[in-house]
Amino acid sequence: MTETDEIKRIDQLREELHLHNYNYYVLNAPVISDQEFDRMMRELQDLEARHPEHFDENSPSVRVGSDLNKNFTQVVHRYPMLSLGNTYSQAEVTEFYDRVKKSLNEDFEICCEMKFDGTSISLTYEDGKLVRAVTRGDGVKGDDVTDNVKTIRSIPLVLHGSGYPKSFEMRGEILMPWDVFEELNRERELREEPLFANPRNAASGTLKSQNSAVVASRKLDAYLYYMLGEDLPHDGHYENLQEAEKWGFKISHIARKVRTLQEIFDFIDYWDVERKNLPVATDGIVLKVNSLRQQRNLGYTAKSPRWAIAYKFQAERALTRLLKVTYQVGRTGAITPVANLEPVQLSGTVVRRASLHNADIIASLDLHIGDMVYVEKGGEIIPKITGVDLASRPAGSEKVIFITHCPECGSKLVRYEDEAAHYCTNETACPPQIKGRIEHFISRRAMNIEGLGPETVDLFYQEGLIHDVADLYDLKAADISRLERLGEKSAENIISGIARSREVPYERVLFALGIRFVGETVAKKVAKAFPSIDALAAATLDDLIHVDEIGGRIAQSIIQYFANGKNREIIERLRKAGLKMEADPSLTAAYSDKLQGKSVVISGVFTRHSRDEYKELIERHGGKNVGSISRKTSFILAGDNMGPSKLEKARALNIPIIDETRFLDMINEE
Ligand code: IVH
Repeated sequence: MTETDEIKRIDQLREELHLHNYNYYVLNAPVISDQEFDRMMRELQDLEARHPEHFDENSPSVRVGSDLNKNFTQVVHRYPMLSLGNTYSQAEVTEFYDRVKKSLNEDFEICCEMKFDGTSISLTYEDGKLVRAVTRGDGVKGDDVTDNVKTIRSIPLVLHGSGYPKSFEMRGEILMPWDVFEELNRERELREEPLFANPRNAASGTLKSQNSAVVASRKLDAYLYYMLGEDLPHDGHYENLQEAEKWGFKISHIARKVRTLQEIFDFIDYWDVERKNLPVATDGIVLKVNSLRQQRNLGYTAKSPRWAIAYKFQAERALTRLLKVTYQVGRTGAITPVANLEPVQLSGTVVRRASLHNADIIASLDLHIGDMVYVEKGGEIIPKITGVDLASRPAGSEKVIFITHCPECGSKLVRYEDEAAHYCTNETACPPQIKGRIEHFISRRAMNIEGLGPETVDLFYQEGLIHDVADLYDLKAADISRLERLGEKSAENIISGIARSREVPYERVLFALGIRFVGETVAKKVAKAFPSIDALAAATLDDLIHVDEIGGRIAQSIIQYFANGKNREIIERLRKAGLKMEADPSLTAAYSDKLQGKSVVISGVFTRHSRDEYKELIERHGGKNVGSISRKTSFILAGDNMGPSKLEKARALNIPIIDETRFLDMINEE
């Protein structure tokens, strides 16, 4: 790679890792395995080390992922919650061991333990009582989730026995056992709720629930693996945990004190296989220098202790034959290639299909039909192909070439600039797109039409009863009840479900239309800015882009949607059918005209309302919120940390700066 290529790669990795961080910590829905994430992070760290001139204080490499949730009170950790150095290689375990040996220059013991794959927690006990449970957060401060944690039965609220310190902390991992996880996902599937990708996300999602009864019902478990405090009973970490067990803590019995590297490797090899029989998810082994005195001597780097390391297991993988590649067409026309495999056993289930994501991935794997391929399940539900065993490629085998035409309707596929996926653009006549749009329209978060599901949609489509979402409102009970699988009762249910959907508010109708890139949140923003479908249809690209958080891509997609005559026709039919095509006026009604003619700039961080709320208040009181300061600006609504350049400009133009309390007084006074 050249200098410029390396810089480009740094930017690319930063952008991707930010996104993966968000998927993992905010959405609780990672799309890549931890191992892949770690690999990318390492590549970034290496490249950044070579290019200090390209430093960025907000690079994903400088932050420890945060799970902070603004609805919980934040608490600063008495001792920061650091993470462990990670490795996948036995060579690095050897390096760790040699480093410890050299630094200590005396005998030492290593405590080998499982690395539990859940969400970490810090528990504070005072006078034998649990007083606080805090998540890891950003390592320095975390969320106070005490009420939720108290519902976890394996966590003692009051200690028994004696000899515990007056005040101390226990750290450990909150876990959702495999069987509970599988049951939970089965239930969610029935209710058409999004599934949790793995027990770790299910555990952390549950722990952040606003309702501790939900937490209680989810049957979480916890193992404690680290005691911190001033006057602990022993100098040995292992011995302290044994003591803690007597006080009522749940301690894993898979822990062993060893002295030699060989014993460490034996432990690793044994548990790499045996862990598959454990009731909870594990993703590696943690090695800790046992003596606390020796731990203090070894100390810490900025991010992790020098006295411990995590060895992560290779994701489980299997080798099997690629039989063929098929292609699925989604609601938006996006094409997903799917590998059809010779059935193979992988972490307890039989795998027959794996996602291939897109054409680039197929090309980079250089896949051929009949290849022996590696399938991995890195903690996620859908397995993927991570490599090809080239040595066993059959002679003369056929290379997998991505299709050029839609497998369902035969239209030529297109690939948009900057996108990895191929699309079938035959929106109005490609069956899976038609059915997909109807399924989206009726789904719970959209029109929420009870009694209808993917199978009934398929049946109605096959029978020629529906071709688009507007057809739903022309359905008659008699049309349905004559179908073989449905009786009069369910026909009536469906019809009344459809009738009730007429009450669904405008913003959800907007979401239900399935305009590309207009998800639930965007639909809300759009509905606020354009309170009727006619206003939206008349909006120009420029009007759209000026709405907060609507970028060019979304704006373009909305314009395209309304440019299509078929879509306008459907909207007209839906309007005639009685669907809400306007926002409820009370949501946008004016409060007063106190800010009439005023143009207001918002800057800084606020405590009493969010920025969006202030924007709304300004507008509902007749004012206009503008982005940048000019001579025409009436005043600046300033929170904390207003940017220095804005401050300077405001002073130069002599524009009043008003804080939030004064602003609220201003709009509230009679
Ligand atoms: S000890 C100073 N022991 O792994 C480090 N951590 O990357 C103290 N974890 O945040 C942690 N099993 O959530 C320790 N047996 C174990 C563990 C363990 C899982 C997690 C923990 C921590 C992360 C470190």
